[in-house]
Amino acid sequence: MSHFVVLPGDGIGPEVVTEAKKVLEAVAIRFGLTFTFDEHLIGGAAIDATGDPLPSATVEACRSSDAILLGAVGGPRWDDPTAKTRPEDGLLGIRSELGLYVNLRPIQVHFPTASPLRDASGVDILFVRELTGGIYFGPSSLSDDGTVARNEMVYSVPEIERVVRVAAEAARRRRSKLTSVDKANVLEVSRLWRRTAERVMEDEFPDVAYEVVLVDAMAMHLLSRPRDFDVVVTGNLFGDILTDEASMLPGSLGLLPSASIGDGPPGLYEPVHGSAPDIAGRNLANPLATILAAAMALRHSLDLTEPAAAVETAVDNVLAAGLRTADIAGTGPTVSTTEMGDAVARAVGMGSRK
Ligand code: IPM
Ligand code: MN
Repeated sequence: MSHFVVLPGDGIGPEVVTEAKKVLEAVAIRFGLTFTFDEHLIGGAAIDATGDPLPSATVEACRSSDAILLGAVGGPRWDDPTAKTRPEDGLLGIRSELGLYVNLRPIQVHFPTASPLRDASGVDILFVRELTGGIYFGPSSLSDDGTVARNEMVYSVPEIERVVRVAAEAARRRRSKLTSVDKANVLEVSRLWRRTAERVMEDEFPDVAYEVVLVDAMAMHLLSRPRDFDVVVTGNLFGDILTDEASMLPGSLGLLPSASIGDGPPGLYEPVHGSAPDIAGRNLANPLATILAAAMALRHSLDLTEPAAAVETAVDNVLAAGLRTADIAGTGPTVSTTEMGDAVARAVGMGSRK
């Protein structure tokens, strides 16, 4: 039996999480597994209910779960710049509380027609984003008169070493190439990142091809030669920005899952996209990113390789059959969030009839 904590959050979060749960239920039936689900508050929904974007009950429930499935947080309703707390603090808080220092963001192009690039076929990149350090968590301040603000980008050697090791190990299981992205021509913290990464690679992973690329150049290479990259490791902020850019290789943020993991269970699984308040509640959102995140949960947290592959195959089949939510439909016909979820759940179930 595996226990999921579900954190629907805000905007389209509840809608996409419902579809991922539906698919997990289909997986349970097909493979004879038992999954339990327990819903908790995070983000704006938690602020509304308790005043806190990350209530302690949520943290406690997450700690005793096997995996956490999260929708999205944030929205214009909570965008008051003078507010003491924001929905995003809930997400940053749970990542930090649970020590989820690695964020895996795979970018694969399954059907290149949704891509704005002329030819994005064959792209297969795994981004490994450091998730609990860097400028997101460094000291910050606003001067008393409100005219000067500061955020510090801080990394220590152990923080760099551990994420580089995870990335290099992932590269070994793939095409054995690692690219580390930094801004070492300007930032002291990047020079430490680069020295540390180079030492780890030389000492521990001499068999993995290794290169460093400056983040501005990487932004360009992602568009000009995306097929050249296998695993890319980088800090929190650069990883945030580059993965949104990379989402345009497959053509939509709505397709991209992410896994946030630490040294032990549980891991946290969520779409790369945000709460999309403009389409929330309208049954329009693409649930595939969250469904693929659930597949990552099966693989990484529950060690259920075959069920994970079954979900990914079901997604491929549904896309191959031509089903498209609005974000990937171009001018063609579209299906709703629930129709897409139903189709994937059905495809998972059909896999059993060999
Ligand atoms: C992401 C998001 C978050 C981040 C926000 C919502 C705090 O953009 O997961 O990429 O910046 O990490
Ligand atoms: Mn982001």
